[in-house]
Amino acid sequence: MELRIALIGFGNVGQGFVKILARKSPLLAERYGVDLRVVAVSDRSKGSVYDPGGLDPSALLSLIEEEGSVSGYPGGVKGMGSLATIRETDSDVVVEVTPTDLETGEPGLSHIRAALEAGKHVITSNKGPIALAYGELSSLARESGVELRFEGTVLSGTPAISLATEALAGAEVLGVEGVLNGTTNFILTRMEEGVDYEDALREAQRLGYAEADPTADVDGWDAAAKLVILANVVMGADLSLGDVEREGIGGVTREAVARASAYGRRVRLLASAWRSGGAVAARVAPAEIPLSHPLASVSGVTNALTLRTDHLGDVTIVGPGAGGVETGQALLSDLLAVARSLRARSGPPL
Ligand code: HSE
Repeated sequence: MELRIALIGFGNVGQGFVKILARKSPLLAERYGVDLRVVAVSDRSKGSVYDPGGLDPSALLSLIEEEGSVSGYPGGVKGMGSLATIRETDSDVVVEVTPTDLETGEPGLSHIRAALEAGKHVITSNKGPIALAYGELSSLARESGVELRFEGTVLSGTPAISLATEALAGAEVLGVEGVLNGTTNFILTRMEEGVDYEDALREAQRLGYAEADPTADVDGWDAAAKLVILANVVMGADLSLGDVEREGIGGVTREAVARASAYGRRVRLLASAWRSGGAVAARVAPAEIPLSHPLASVSGVTNALTLRTDHLGDVTIVGPGAGGVETGQALLSDLLAVARSLRARSGPPL
């Protein structure tokens, strides 16, 4: 089966995904019978190129490394904007990986709406549109008969959404608790090692973990957005970002981190959602937790998520929470899930 991909956004995550394709396309074809073919790339600052015959992943990456733009790609149609790329290219799936904006959701929100309206499957790691408009977008996807998947919005490629909705199908998720932001966990870990807050933040930015505007990380907005996504998707809540009680790590000093360490405790930015009466309540805040707590051993950019379930009690998953290739893995697993679903639809009736 061939899946023709229009890639909207070619930053750290888009490039991480294309790196995976450059290395693994033959193996993916052999193992899963899927030809994942990028036919278009469109990025606001790195240019755009469309070739219905498919683009060579390695050539795209070399161009970015050497010229910072895909405009020099040999052949193909150049200069199409993102919406034209979504609507006018011969593609089955739009992979939307533009930067997150938690105030407006844009430009991702318009991209996703346009793709769903055009009858294209959408895969995204962009938290803005899913945190702000999950209800609207999932209805639109249903009406259009297409898939909307967003594994990469929470815990990058470490399964979180599909863990709850697919692997744990049939179980109720009664609550969630996690370390959901890599940048703040990295900063808190570096502070435990004696590094200053500002230096640790710069390091997180250099490593590509922090958001374009890192206040989204340090003030707890990024963790709150992931928590809203989890609560709404896996707990059936209807939360907005404003419903999350939120405190960032700005008030956490190196002294406080050292004091906690001296008492065998760690400071972590915890994100939690729980059922309260008939509703779901949610909070993001720094907390001192004992080393015996399952989330205390999560260091650096690593994230962790505990799902409190009716049938299994607590289920905790630990893994990378940010990074280009790590989030590329989420896009890849979503693409393979779309391929499975399309096969199931076209198979013989049960
Ligand atoms: N800035 C985010 C983080 C990236 O640090 O976790 C992944 O969503």
